[in-house]
Amino acid sequence: MLVLAIETSCDETAAAVVRDGREILSSIVSSQIAVHAEYGGVVPEIASRKHLEAIVPVITQALREAGVELSAIEGVVVTRGPGLSGALLVGFSVARALAFACGIPIIGVHHIEGHIFASFLEKPVEFPFLALVVSGGHTHLYQVEGFGCYTTLGRTIDDAAGEAFDKSGKIMGLAYPAGARIDALARGGDAAAVHLPRPMIHDGTLRFSFSGLKTALMQHVAKHPVTIPGQAASDLCASFQQAVCDVLESKTRAALQQSGAVRLVVAGGVACNSGVRSTMARLARQQGIELHIPSPALCGDNAAMLAVAGNHYLARGLVSSPDQDVTATWEMDRVKEIFRE
Ligand code: KG4
Ligand code: ZN
Repeated sequence: MLVLAIETSCDETAAAVVRDGREILSSIVSSQIAVHAEYGGVVPEIASRKHLEAIVPVITQALREAGVELSAIEGVVVTRGPGLSGALLVGFSVARALAFACGIPIIGVHHIEGHIFASFLEKPVEFPFLALVVSGGHTHLYQVEGFGCYTTLGRTIDDAAGEAFDKSGKIMGLAYPAGARIDALARGGDAAAVHLPRPMIHDGTLRFSFSGLKTALMQHVAKHPVTIPGQAASDLCASFQQAVCDVLESKTRAALQQSGAVRLVVAGGVACNSGVRSTMARLARQQGIELHIPSPALCGDNAAMLAVAGNHYLARGLVSSPDQDVTATWEMDRVKEIFRE
C-alpha cells in the first residue's frame, strides 16, 4: 500500500511517499528555520505563508523522487494536530483536496503519534513500550499499548525540553533553534563547571519542569557573560545539557519501574541530542531493556514518520471523515475519536 504523507504543524513543510508503512520511497523536508531565526522563534503567520509557498513543490518533489504517479497513491496521511492552527490548515487543506480529487481516503494523525512511530521505519518495536517524546513542544512519557492506545504517564508542567534548549540558547546569544548548537558547543565543555538545578528531579512524580533551569542559566549569564565560541560558553552548554539529561534519565527510570516496560522508544527533535542519546543508551543497558531511538533525520519533524500509524489505520479502514478539521491542541489519549469505520 502506497501513502502520501504531509506534515505542516510548525516550521517544516514535509511530504513523503511510504510503502506499507515501512519503506520510505521519498522524504522531503523544506525548513523555514532561516526565516524565523531573524525573529528568534517561529512567527505563526509567516509559517502559514511559507507552507503555502512550499507545499505543492514539496509534494511534487516527493512524488518525483519516489517515482510514483499521484494516481498510484492509496491514501493521504496528514498531521491533524497539535500545532499552529494556520500552519496545520495548509497541509490539511491540500491533503483533503488531493484525497477528494483522487477519490482516496484521508487519515489525520497526531503529530506525536508520528514521532513515536518514527523508529518503526528502521525497526518495528513490539508492544507494549514506554515512549519518551522530547521536542520543541513536548516532554511527555507515554505508555504505548498499540496503535491509537496511549496513556500519558507524565508531562512537563511548563517548558518542553526543546523549548528550554531554544530559550537558553537565546539567552546565550545563539540563533534559533539553539538545541543543535548547544549540543555542538557542549562537546568541548566541562559538564561539572556550572552548577545548575535539576527541577523536580526527586519529587516522586513523573512530571517535568524546565523553566527554573532556564531562569538559573539566565542568572548565571547575567553575572558571567559568555562569548561564543569560548571555553566558558562550552562549559555552560555542557552543564545545561547535563542538567536536562539528568532529569530525563531520572524520570524515565521511574516510569520504566512504574510501568514495568521492557522496551523504550525515545523520539522528537531533542532525541537528536548526543547527551540524550548516550544517557538513554546507558539507562537501557543498566535496566536491561531494549532501546529504540530513530536516526537523527527521523527524529526531527518529517512526513515519513506519519505514514507508520497512517498506514496501519488505512489498512483497517480507519479513515478520517471528509469534513474533519485541524486541532491546535489534542490529547494523545483521545486520538481514536476522529475515525469513522
Ligand atoms: O520534533 P521537532 O523537530 O519539532 C517539534 O515537534 O517541536 O523538535 C524541534 C526541537 C527544537 O527545540 C530544537 O532545538 C530541538 O528539537 N533539537 C535539539 C537538537 N536538535 C534539535 N535539541 C538538543 N540537541 C539537539 N541536537
Ligand atoms: Zn515534532
